Amino acid sequence: MKRLSVLLLLPMMATAGELEQGQAIAAEFKGELMQTLKSAIAEGGPVNGISVCNSAAGPLADAVAQRHGVSLGRVGTRTRSPANEPQPWQAELVAAVEKDPRPQMLEIDGHQLYAEPLFIQEPCLACHGEPKDDVKAALNKYYPNDKATGYALGDLRGVLWVKLGNQVQ
Ligand code: HEC
Repeated sequence: MKRLSVLLLLPMMATAGELEQGQAIAAEFKGELMQTLKSAIAEGGPVNGISVCNSAAGPLADAVAQRHGVSLGRVGTRTRSPANEPQPWQAELVAAVEKDPRPQMLEIDGHQLYAEPLFIQEPCLACHGEPKDDVKAALNKYYPNDKATGYALGDLRGVLWVKLGNQVQ
């Protein structure tokens, strides 16, 4: 009986390892993006943060992904950048995390995916809540079809996903 339970645990241990790996990679990306965003905001306020986020978020994600041999990205419950408009599998991903907002492993279209919820915290509100006029103007300039304002503290803003292994796109 004891031996059986050990055997049954093995697949779960493998999953726990993937979850941990995904979580670590996600944390690295979030850390680097927040660092970049914080210093941009310290230098020139949220308006400056927008231009930095606009040019840095994608390349930063690519750099972290390459470093680990994975692909990764962010997808919003509503979208700011048209480049982040969800593909069908990403819409499925958001729906799954909306239903169960925890860090988790999911299989979508045959891909093993790590996914974690991104919630609105205090610093996000300047650009995703009710932005002030100067911030609104800057957002309009870069993102005329911005749908990613009007969020409140604690709202699900999106999902950070990591495709583990060499399963790019
Ligand atoms: C200084 C303004 C600013 C702040 C603060 C900010 N964001 Fe954003 N956010 C942006 C911009 C600009 C984009 C579009 C980036 C791009 O062009 O790829 C974006 C995009 C996103 C996306 C990708 C989906 C989409 O809509 O394009 C997510 C998810 C996101 N932000 C979550 C957050 C979270 C969570 C926080 C707080 C921890 C936060 N943001 C703080 C400006 C900001």
